[in-house]
Amino acid sequence: MAEQIMKGKTLFISGGTRGIGKAIVYEFASKGCDVAFTYASSADAAIEIVADIESKFGVKSRAYKLNILEPDTYKDVYKLFDEDFDKLDYFISNAIISGRAVVGGFAPFMRLKPKGLSNIYTATVEAFVVGAQEAVKRMEKVGGGSIISMSSTGNLVYTPNYAGHGTNKAAVETMVRYAAAELGEKNIRVNAVSGGPIDTDALKAFPNYEVVKAEVVRRSPLSRMGDATDLTGACTFLCSDAASWLTGQTIVIDGGTSFQ
Ligand SMILES: NC(=O)c1ccc[n+]([C@@H]2O[C@H](COP(=O)([O-])OP(=O)(O)OC[C@H]3O[C@@H](n4cnc5c(N)ncnc54)[C@H](OP(=O)(O)O)[C@@H]3O)[C@@H](O)[C@H]2O)c1
Repeated sequence: MAEQIMKGKTLFISGGTRGIGKAIVYEFASKGCDVAFTYASSADAAIEIVADIESKFGVKSRAYKLNILEPDTYKDVYKLFDEDFDKLDYFISNAIISGRAVVGGFAPFMRLKPKGLSNIYTATVEAFVVGAQEAVKRMEKVGGGSIISMSSTGNLVYTPNYAGHGTNKAAVETMVRYAAAELGEKNIRVNAVSGGPIDTDALKAFPNYEVVKAEVVRRSPLSRMGDATDLTGACTFLCSDAASWLTGQTIVIDGGTSFQ
């Protein structure tokens, strides 16, 4: 078992049931961190993960239902969190919408529609803001904390159909810098972790998934696509004392694909 260097700490992360979020849940729990996470539709998976990490790592874990298309409901979820946990050290805004909610947002430029675009803005930027504001209220009580927004290199590199997500990832990275500038006085650091294409359900939903995958493997000097676990190290680092002077930044983890 990994060294329990996060024992006594608590993480709250949105979207912990699949892909990158699930990998982060396991990584923090393996280091002894208590983990609260949210799900949207995967209630059964959430229950299984809670039981699994509690028995494997001896941490406390709870899962709550959240719809990031209704960011204000974060406040109700945090009330439930308060009944289960007495402190919060780390918050990661990770959940992302897909499927019907992104129709008109995940499309070539000439097929973009305001409704789809604004859904992605709500789920990416507004959900980060409300989730982080509520986190700050709790982190203040323990003298500080670390907040992370997951981002993607689709705001740096042209990715077919990704205009809606890419522009909103650029927006959330800017929001991260504004939050960092104002929350430093509370000893709260705010950063983004931006991944290149990672092999998760979100990417498999791309209509041209096989083409994207082949292109990523070709472009990466490391000759492979990202794995869900490839972003976890940056998250634990940003939550550690080793990153105590690191705020307002985006750490890019892209297998070298952005420069090719
Ligand atoms: N995949 C990539 O290539 C890639 C690259 C870089 C960065 N990222 C970023 O990393 C993050 C996670 O991506 P992923 O690929 O791991 O996604 P994913 O596999 O599609 O998982 C999405 C997560 O968000 C939850 N979710 C879905 N709809 C929701 C809603 N309406 N309200 C609240 N939660 C909802 C899901 O919960 P349920 O299981 O309950 O539906 C799930 O836990 C995102 O911010 C994404 O932009 C992804």
